[in-house]
Amino acid sequence: MKGYSFVHPRGDFVLPHADRTNGLYFPLANEAGYMAAITPTGGGDAKIDQNHFLLPPAAVVDLHNTRFTRTIWVRFDDGSCWSATGSSHEQKAAEPELHTVEAGLLWHKTIRKHAARPLTAEIVSFVPNDEVTAEVVRFTLRNTGASPLRVLPTAVVPLFGRSADSLRDHRHVTALLNRVEITSQGVLLQPSMSFDERGHSVNTTVYAVMGRRGDGSLPTGCFADLDSFIGEGGDLERPAVIYSPEHADAVRLSPGDVVEGSEALGAVQFDQVEIAPGAEIQLYCLAGVFAHTDGAARAAERYCNPAGFEAALAANREFWDAKLNTVSCTTGNSEFDAWMRWVSLQPILRRLYGCSFLPYHDYGRGGRGWRDLWQDCLALLLMEPDSVRESLLQNLAGVRFDGTNATIIGSRPGEFVADRNNITRVWMDHGAWPLMTIQLYIDQTGDSGFLFESQTYFSDPQWGRASRKLDATRGDTLLYDQTGGVVRGSVFEHLLLQQLSAFFHVGDHNSILLEGADWNDGLDMAADRGESVAFTGQYAANLAWLAGVLEQVSAEVTEIALHHEILQLLDRYAGTPVDYDDPAAKRARLQSFFDSCQQGPSGEMVNVAAVDLAADLRAKSDAMIDHLRNREWIQTPDGHGWFNGYYDNDGERVEGGGTDSPRMTLTGQVFQVLGGVADEQQVDRIVAAADAHLWDDAVGGYRLNTDFRELKLNMGRCFGFAYGHKENGAMFSHMAVMFANALYARGRSQAGWRTLEAIFNAASRFSASRMYPGIPEYFDPKGRGLYPYLTGSASWYLLTVVTRMFGVRGHYGDLVLDPQLQAAQWGELDSVSVCTYFRQRQLQIVYRNPEGLDVGEYRVTAVVADTGELAFTLRDGAAVIDGAAIDRVAMDCTGPEQAPTVLRVELGRRDNGAGV
Ligand code: G1P
Repeated sequence: MKGYSFVHPRGDFVLPHADRTNGLYFPLANEAGYMAAITPTGGGDAKIDQNHFLLPPAAVVDLHNTRFTRTIWVRFDDGSCWSATGSSHEQKAAEPELHTVEAGLLWHKTIRKHAARPLTAEIVSFVPNDEVTAEVVRFTLRNTGASPLRVLPTAVVPLFGRSADSLRDHRHVTALLNRVEITSQGVLLQPSMSFDERGHSVNTTVYAVMGRRGDGSLPTGCFADLDSFIGEGGDLERPAVIYSPEHADAVRLSPGDVVEGSEALGAVQFDQVEIAPGAEIQLYCLAGVFAHTDGAARAAERYCNPAGFEAALAANREFWDAKLNTVSCTTGNSEFDAWMRWVSLQPILRRLYGCSFLPYHDYGRGGRGWRDLWQDCLALLLMEPDSVRESLLQNLAGVRFDGTNATIIGSRPGEFVADRNNITRVWMDHGAWPLMTIQLYIDQTGDSGFLFESQTYFSDPQWGRASRKLDATRGDTLLYDQTGGVVRGSVFEHLLLQQLSAFFHVGDHNSILLEGADWNDGLDMAADRGESVAFTGQYAANLAWLAGVLEQVSAEVTEIALHHEILQLLDRYAGTPVDYDDPAAKRARLQSFFDSCQQGPSGEMVNVAAVDLAADLRAKSDAMIDHLRNREWIQTPDGHGWFNGYYDNDGERVEGGGTDSPRMTLTGQVFQVLGGVADEQQVDRIVAAADAHLWDDAVGGYRLNTDFRELKLNMGRCFGFAYGHKENGAMFSHMAVMFANALYARGRSQAGWRTLEAIFNAASRFSASRMYPGIPEYFDPKGRGLYPYLTGSASWYLLTVVTRMFGVRGHYGDLVLDPQLQAAQWGELDSVSVCTYFRQRQLQIVYRNPEGLDVGEYRVTAVVADTGELAFTLRDGAAVIDGAAIDRVAMDCTGPEQAPTVLRVELGRRDNGAGV
């Protein structure tokens, strides 16, 4: 089956017969908070948050089963009726009509041809890039025949007008709150009260559906309650209002009419119109959520006309295009480049939607999960760096003094929630992510001073890694010291507490306890004795980075101010050293730290010499690495070797086994490779084992785990999932991409590219993946891409492409150029290029490889800016350019505003000594 084709390098694509694939949806959103999904047949939903759904909430199963879809009906002179989205019983029963989706950033168009008449309907939808929380739609009806066509058009948007919670909690009763007023432009639903988690309160929100003809004429009538619209025995695919003019006349509403107490919908009907042969008519519609009725009316005035619509659409395309240009790439494969634009959009979508609010993401109540938030920042650092410093700092206010953190971050600064389901738990990986993101931030900007910014701590009744319950405190989420002062600490101290708390919190095998789960949310049934060896590796790497950064800044920062109680955890620096081979001793030390600041720290600060602190942290990191290398490397009878990643709740090692029943997880390998725990030989053996046990072309590469063939109740719910799905052995993009990143980082660029390419190929194979361009959370056993758009893998994919594949990255603010592109990635091109932000400046790096050399054969031989050649040094085969030199070049280069500073980089044979 032919899938979509890209029709423009900026990512525009065309997908014929899109309505013959289930589960497809497209995001329509803006920065103001409108979040919608639209299917090829007008399905999906729209909302501004959990409590304000414009259309009825739609999970993926609803996309092909519900009749609550946006459409426009056409009634012909002879009484026959047709839906421009194919939503009539007759159309569903007949042979499929010709139907195409065209889409770009971030607009959506469907084109449908009537099977028997010379009529084509084109529907263009987008969300204006301004303060309006609404989608605007242009319906074009074109007469492609030789005789005039007379049509009566009615645009319909089903309305929900309340909280998603009301879907299964008083759906009927909440409909009784509905009050709809008809105006000259359309329908305004303003329920009298809102029932939601805040209790019952007077509702002020307005849900509007408004429309106009292209010639400015207003609707001739509206319909606003579902029951009378569909009529007795009818439904939304055969509504009586459309099929029976007598019924329509009986229930048609006029400006000033009010409808109360029923399920609502917004239907605007226009005068019957004659479309001349070859001519077309346009109707404009707006559906949105507003704070006032005036706002809705003004928005309709603004957008529901040809000029307003066109201008907003053009501005919208320009906005998204400019945003994605900041990280665009050009390689020998233009399909890959266009696909990458959609991948690059995904982290922004997750910033806008959070982890909820698209049909597959039918969970959560908005806000973003802690680990997701930090990982999305990785990509945003490369493409939207302006506000990242501020948000990184704000997010750190979610760290508790025990090293754990709030798990949900609201959309407003400083809004933190311990747990969306009010369950007391800790995900043991959470402490690892902020450091990884801040490391990238410092490398990309050179702003190591950020580490010494001050921030508050999060406090709630959960203490001691969820082992203790404190009395409810002051009603805010700030931490106070024993004298009543608000506790503040440096960014460094926040990161330090997260790593130290994890370091001491080990299980009987001396790896860090799994607690509620780690990155794999599905490993959630081993909270007592389970251990994540996988993340122990990452924490070891993080401790080493903290030591390294202290050494790096030691010329300017000789002492670090810390809360006195933390010294207990710096046992190699102060007090009695703990035996790092003794898990019980480690845990005991952590408990005494928890005891000492259960009522808040004393407030006393100490200065610790940076070099001494670095030595303490290095000792910890080294001890962990030694332990992992020596105790967790497993050798299987068939000659393979890899790292054990976990212990289960019975304290048993999870991985191992022979050829017939190998138990291997990808997660167990990724962090050891990425963090440098695995030695060179181990890296190669891991790749060999992963290729033998986890690789599967059909699903896009490395699976998350082998088939354990056991309902491992002592490990987690993921073992209850059918094998090959989601966290039980799917090709789970996030972990596979992190593996690719790790492989590049360890110089295995061919294996890294193979991993990235396999995902791109699987996603692009539409006949199996059945998804629009982008990276899905995972591929199911049939190769279908699920949970599109909102996945952390997009952030990691982009990061890996820019900083590893193109090798454009920072090191404490210096620019490293370390391309790892395969010769074939130049294709027919002379040069390949990538754009990214670096030191808050937009750069475009253009690599020329005139001799067609392969990775390993080439190195950077010259770097040329518009202003002249740039000096660089070679470090481990990579060119390193002083950060200040980049600043100078960027300032001296003149060009149109927003244009990136271009660096032309020549690649030549490695043995060529030029340019150094
Ligand atoms: C999703 C969640 C992420 C979790 C992962 C594995 O991944 O968002 O927090 O770590 O499942 O359970 P994503 O699709 O975002 O990569």
